[in-house]
Amino acid sequence: MMKLHIFAALSFGLIAAPVVALAGNGADILKSQCISCHATVKPEKPGLDHIWERKGPDLYYAGSKFNKPWLVKWLQDPVRIRPAGELYRKHVKPGDKEDVVDESTLTPHMKLAKADAEAVADALMALTGPAGLVNKGAFKGGKVSMTMGSMFFNKLRGCGACHMAKAGTGGLSGPELYTGGERLQADYIYSYIKDPQKFDPGVWMPTLNLAEPDLQRLTGYILQLSAPEGK
Ligand code: HEC
Ligand code: HEC
Repeated sequence: MMKLHIFAALSFGLIAAPVVALAGNGADILKSQCISCHATVKPEKPGLDHIWERKGPDLYYAGSKFNKPWLVKWLQDPVRIRPAGELYRKHVKPGDKEDVVDESTLTPHMKLAKADAEAVADALMALTGPAGLVNKGAFKGGKVSMTMGSMFFNKLRGCGACHMAKAGTGGLSGPELYTGGERLQADYIYSYIKDPQKFDPGVWMPTLNLAEPDLQRLTGYILQLSAPEGK
């Protein structure tokens, strides 16, 4: 009789409940598995020392930065975003002409199971960071000519020296941007380009004091890079 009950409960999915509850706590997973490398609260002393010492990018404003579907997918199957990991200087060696990434010093990112990835993505999306960090509604959504965009990105504003707009081409010291549109919220892209120091005080990305049309154009270009027409 007892056996039958358990069988019935299993087949109707009743016994699955405790497992779901366990996986449901994204905040607990963040605390136990992620904070050794990622700041989930604003660092007390932001600046160059923090950037130099951190083992992973800050996540305390993840909810204002990432698109949730990307997070859920990436946490299950992480692929490299920063060609030289964190921190660039620690993972490059001098090459013939320029620095090359020393792959032997890089380790793959941990993976999460689907339910955990979903729970953690929810917890991350709740971390919106200080008010006003991202200029909400700043990107006006205009379409950008990819030729113009590329000219600005690579030639006129020098972004390509540190970022890849296409896999395998471009600089290695900043995050790749060819999946930027899938990964990042439009207003975050705009706000970061406008004032990188607001997000990562001490970071080596220059504050270029770009005019509004340039900010719109570069944001639109990065978004379109991961849209079908951008490929
Ligand atoms: C051993 C250190 C380490 C641990 C532990 C770790 N991470 Fe990371 N994480 C990194 C590094 C390094 C990167 C940068 C990877 C890259 O750019 O390719 C990263 C990148 C990320 C990113 C993308 C961030 C961005 O700004 O591009 C997310 C999201 C993330 N980690 C979430 C997590 C979560 C959630 C956990 C815990 C379940 C976790 N990480 C545990 C080191 C770590
Ligand atoms: C000298 C190198 C350098 C230059 C030049 C540079 N960046 Fe960056 N950029 C960086 C670094 C370093 C980061 C952030 C580091 C991190 O999160 O690990 C960054 C971050 C970003 C981000 C946020 C990406 C993310 O995944 O969080 C965007 C968007 C961006 N840069 C766009 C641009 C654009 C557009 C230009 C040209 C106007 C530019 N960058 C020029 C180095 C550079």
